[in-house]
Amino acid sequence: MTKEKPLHHVVLIGFMGTGKSTVSKQLAELLKCGTADIDAEIVRREGQAIADIFAARGEADFRLAETAALAEVLGSSDPLVIATGGGAVLSERNRAMMLQDSFVVALTADPEQIIARVSEDAARPLLQGDVRERVYKLLEDRKHAYAFAHLTVDTSDLSVRQVVELIE
Ligand code: S3P
Repeated sequence: MTKEKPLHHVVLIGFMGTGKSTVSKQLAELLKCGTADIDAEIVRREGQAIADIFAARGEADFRLAETAALAEVLGSSDPLVIATGGGAVLSERNRAMMLQDSFVVALTADPEQIIARVSEDAARPLLQGDVRERVYKLLEDRKHAYAFAHLTVDTSDLSVRQVVELIE
């Protein structure tokens, strides 16, 4: 007997600091399903921190590891809420994989809130140097990158709970 394909995963996309990881955990609780974090999967699979992968192997290699981790997680037979890294949407292949059997939600936030949130964590390799300048530059470069989502939620003036309930 063939096993039926599971219902959709929920995939959270969005720029760094828009709350994907926090929202994914609470949303998974509400939906009573598992959760996965692609950055964490990359670290587990590669045995190296994200910053170390960027430093030792470069961004292109990181993106390959990201695609491999995403493919593995999306292949899970259990429905999951999946938090992706902010750049996972840059690959057309990744976007196609996400759309295959998942509900894709883009989280956005006001740039100043993003800057405040990411400034708490200095480990992000793409935000070294002048964080404000880097955030504005990357936001400009990626301004259309998240538009393929089924739903976009601006988290700026919402609590995590409100964001989760909106998605649900
Ligand atoms: C990246 C975002 C990061 C991480 C890596 C690259 C990006 O994830 O995958 O540093 O290109 O925007 P978060 O969005 O979880 O910070």
